[in-house]
Amino acid sequence: MTTGSSRLLFLISAILIILVRITTAQEYYLLFAHCSESAKYSRFSPYMYNLNAVFNNISSNTQIDYGFYNFSVGENSNKVNAIALCRGDVSQEACRGCIDYATREITRICPDQMEAIAWYDNCTLRYSNRTIFGTVELRPHFYWWIVDNASNVIQFNQTLRTLLANLQIQAASGGSLRKFATAEANFMSFETVYALVQCTPDLTDAQCSNCLDGAIAAIPDCCEGKQGGRILFPSCNLRWSISQFYESTPDAPPPQPSTPDALPPLPSTPPPPTKGKESNTSRTVIAVVATVTSLILIVCICIFLRMRKRRETVEMDEIGSVESLQFDFGTIRVATEFFSDANKLGQGGFGAVYKGKLPNGQDIAVKRLSTDSGQGDQEFKNEVLLVAKLQHRNLVRLLGFCMQGKERLLIYEFVPNTSLDHYLFNPIKREQLDWERRYQIIGGISRGLLYLHEDSRLRIIHRDLKASNILLDAEMNPKIADFGMARLFVVGQTQGTTNRIVGTYGYMAPEYAMHGYFSVKSDVYSFGVLVLEIVSGQKNSYRFRNGEDVKDLLSYAWKNWREGIASNLIDPTLRNGSMNEIVRCIHIGLLCVQENEVNRPTMASVVQLLSSPSLTLPVPSEPAFFMQSKEEMEMPLLPEHNLVATSSDQSQNQSSSFSVNEVSITKLYPR
Ligand SMILES: *[C@@H]1O[C@H](CO)[C@@H](O)[C@H](O)[C@H]1NC(C)=O
Ligand SMILES: *[C@@H]1O[C@H](CO)[C@@H](O)[C@H](O)[C@H]1NC(C)=O
Ligand SMILES: *[C@@H]1O[C@H](CO)[C@@H](O)[C@H](O)[C@H]1NC(C)=O
Ligand SMILES: *[C@@H]1O[C@H](CO)[C@@H](O)[C@H](O)[C@H]1NC(C)=O
Ligand SMILES: *[C@@H]1O[C@H](CO)[C@@H](O)[C@H](O)[C@H]1NC(C)=O
Ligand SMILES: *[C@@H]1O[C@H](CO)[C@@H](O)[C@H](O)[C@H]1NC(C)=O
Repeated sequence: MTTGSSRLLFLISAILIILVRITTAQEYYLLFAHCSESAKYSRFSPYMYNLNAVFNNISSNTQIDYGFYNFSVGENSNKVNAIALCRGDVSQEACRGCIDYATREITRICPDQMEAIAWYDNCTLRYSNRTIFGTVELRPHFYWWIVDNASNVIQFNQTLRTLLANLQIQAASGGSLRKFATAEANFMSFETVYALVQCTPDLTDAQCSNCLDGAIAAIPDCCEGKQGGRILFPSCNLRWSISQFYESTPDAPPPQPSTPDALPPLPSTPPPPTKGKESNTSRTVIAVVATVTSLILIVCICIFLRMRKRRETVEMDEIGSVESLQFDFGTIRVATEFFSDANKLGQGGFGAVYKGKLPNGQDIAVKRLSTDSGQGDQEFKNEVLLVAKLQHRNLVRLLGFCMQGKERLLIYEFVPNTSLDHYLFNPIKREQLDWERRYQIIGGISRGLLYLHEDSRLRIIHRDLKASNILLDAEMNPKIADFGMARLFVVGQTQGTTNRIVGTYGYMAPEYAMHGYFSVKSDVYSFGVLVLEIVSGQKNSYRFRNGEDVKDLLSYAWKNWREGIASNLIDPTLRNGSMNEIVRCIHIGLLCVQENEVNRPTMASVVQLLSSPSLTLPVPSEPAFFMQSKEEMEMPLLPEHNLVATSSDQSQNQSSSFSVNEVSITKLYPR
């Protein structure tokens, strides 16, 4: 395949994956967040622990009947007061999900802030060290509107004002549990306006009424005569639109999309018009075919489920309980200091990694998965259990996991010396890795990989082996990270094809990058690339120049090996290494990156070849050169990076997070 078409393929698959991700991602719609910049709490201060306790309490609280929580924890200046409020019409489940999400997001949006507020489409969360219960707060506030004018501004204005005045009375008298009201009214005899008002129920009737007075009085500031608008105060909010945006009865099936003020729900696809004259026989045939097909399908699914169940129960019996591996979210939140940027170790293909310290003093690395794993809770737990069972001195140990709402965390042992790429590709640090060290690293990686491929009971294909996934412990022993991710994300496959390509450009075997076909031999390919990188001290994307001739690592290694001058490839800092060993490693690397996977050795042979210098090596065939490109291409195919960036952009740049259907403008009056 030519370079052009492979790049096209790469692009298409990347776009497809992104599309799939966008349509399946569940997002809670952040309207606006405000961090009070006045005061920050310090790390591991009582305030931080109290905030954690408040969030734990909110998340574990089951009394959400009225969609309102108010809690406080702590004393005096370390007291944290928090209020969470769901929009009155939101289902209990959606309310819990939204608040849970907000408690996890708000410390990311407003790191270390003693006071913050975040408005989501379905809920609001705020906390402060000030008393915020029972007081009317009108700042900060947030306005939002639809740019289009109502068809008849005067009449619309009258109708809306009357409607809001009624709702105000209704909501204010709502008692101490729920101060929420919605209603609709017609104007111009054929158009309808829908409105919603809500106060936090800790306010008295009079306070609620006052707050709403303020909100109604703010209408001319932003959105008089507009087809839709929102006025959000910390203590109360109002909203209207000419399309229905709330649930008319709390238990009714959701009639509206979750984007704010979005277009009215699309009519469900009408059933295909039945052709009265259609012949009965053809209909019968279709019915029979359909029945048979679905029967076969059902039988297959049953068999599949049974087999899986049996496999799972067997393994579960052998390896004990999930509970021993489950960490409490609050513990991890504190351990990582609310996932603070200061503790961020890096951003991997599946999410950010944070350093943390458990209460018993143990250092951990926490991977905060950025994508929906596509698995149910139980499946995820089972897979974690299996992966945690994989223990080898050249594998980073998985200590456990943590689940909270949609959030999934993996807890690993902390490996102190960062990753191989930090040394290998750094001109100064590279010198710390003499040949002896590098040879040990190559040996360690090969043994870890062999364990994954053959010695563990699960046959694990890593699929994303690369220098940044090789961690180094205090003695510079290599430990492979990120193995088993394919199991934790999609139901485990040992060999086959996938439409979800996980991997890093430049390390991916051609059959995997092009066709999604993976096997242990695709890992062998990545291992070969890694070996050549370790010997040369250069990234696979590095361009080697020799006069006019510019070559990538693989081509350069191949050319020089063919011409009997493989030593050209060797990192000049490896002066004192054994030339025999080094050239042998180049040879083994070239065997691993051969185009035809059948010719590549298994990891078992690699380990053997490395440990027995007397064994003769076969002659390699030409490697796959398909990934030549001018620019540096070290780009994960998974779009997580992009998505993470997008979502954090959204929270920092609030005005970008509006509905795409409408042009809208925000006004913010910070405190
Ligand atoms: C949450 O707070 C309430 C009221 O203070 C308390 O009764 C409850 O035990 C707390 N729950 C948790 C899980 O901390
Ligand atoms: C909240 O914290 C700030 C900063 O530490 C402090 O100045 C203020 O007095 C505190 N407020 C209360 C009510 O304790
Ligand atoms: C918001 O609440 C509505 C109504 O309960 C629900 O249909 C919708 O899924 C919720 N949105 C999110 C992101 O949970
Ligand atoms: C809405 O009405 C105002 C005043 O009547 C006018 O200035 C503005 O251009 C109108 N906006 C739109 C989108 O029609
Ligand atoms: C809308 O109605 C309010 C109260 O009735 C009035 O004060 C305001 O001037 C009206 N605005 C328009 C544009 O008619
Ligand atoms: C929460 O609000 C209720 C009134 O809605 C009030 O009775 C209760 O004392 C508040 N809780 C705290 C911790 O302030």
